[in-house]
Amino acid sequence: MDFSVNLGLLKLKTPLMLASGTWGLGENLDKFFSLKEIRENIGALVTKGISINPRKGNPPPRLFETPCGLINFIGVENPGIKEFKKSFLPKIKKFGIPVIVNLYGEKIEEFLELAKDLKKEKVAGLELNISCPNVEKGGIYFSYDPKIVSELVRKVRKVWERFLAVKLSPVGPVYEIAEICEKSGADAIVVANTYPALAVISLKPFKILQGGLSGPAIKPLTLRLVYEISKKIKIPVIGCGGIISGKDALEYLLSGAKAFQIGTTNLIDPRSAIKIMRELKEFKNGLCDKSDTC
Ligand SMILES: Cc1cc2nc3c(=O)[nH]c(=O)nc-3n(C[C@H](O)[C@H](O)[C@H](O)COP(=O)(O)O)c2cc1C
Repeated sequence: MDFSVNLGLLKLKTPLMLASGTWGLGENLDKFFSLKEIRENIGALVTKGISINPRKGNPPPRLFETPCGLINFIGVENPGIKEFKKSFLPKIKKFGIPVIVNLYGEKIEEFLELAKDLKKEKVAGLELNISCPNVEKGGIYFSYDPKIVSELVRKVRKVWERFLAVKLSPVGPVYEIAEICEKSGADAIVVANTYPALAVISLKPFKILQGGLSGPAIKPLTLRLVYEISKKIKIPVIGCGGIISGKDALEYLLSGAKAFQIGTTNLIDPRSAIKIMRELKEFKNGLCDKSDTC
């Protein structure tokens, strides 16, 4: 069955992409899948967010499980662009699937520097994470500021000719930002990142953890965003939020997404990609009765 997807400058063998941060930098994929499984099931690998300098991330606790979701407060731990290019990229390129590098910057200049630095590398595309604090604007997230997002996308577009996606935050002026990304030259948008959330992790002493909520809890929220945004823009929308089954993926595709990313489910079962693609194929083949157990 042909599952190929055309996202303009990026062609995928399947619509399934591994979401940023949930497979590390991807260097261990072959410990869980055969090469054949990788190439037949995973349309693209999106790396963990990469910054110019190495980042240690936040001190623990960094993860908290809620009844149907996960709150993470990782803080974009990564080895920095130099080490990524030297020690990780050669390995993940060998898997033979498109590699999309997720960029983390705190200034427009940082995103530009990262994009320029990757020009000579064999990566299929970039994904701009705009859920980052803009230090030049007092730390307000890029995703709250349509003007800044427009400037960011236009400037990166000028230096980057391959596939360029922007990963939206699900909060803030989301629809406006989606339209601005399209006008500013993005090839696709990813809908969306995690939702700001809070968990009480200890009653006495009272302790909280604030971070981003992901997993099945967010699926209905993000699905709505995908449905509404797909009606407003012409560039492809890539759905991302709470997918744990083929049925979830199909719901995203029917709601307007051209492709989808899976995140938290990889942390529950590293082989989720295989299960989700198998279930999606069964649905498409009409073998499945579309019940919840499918
Ligand atoms: C542990 C963890 C780390 C993440 N790191 C990143 C990151 O570095 N950059 C990014 O854009 N999104 C990051 N995300 C967000 C995911 O890529 C995805 O957008 C989000 O989890 C929603 O999808 P899901 O419900 O399938 O997990 C991270 C998510 C988790 C759970």
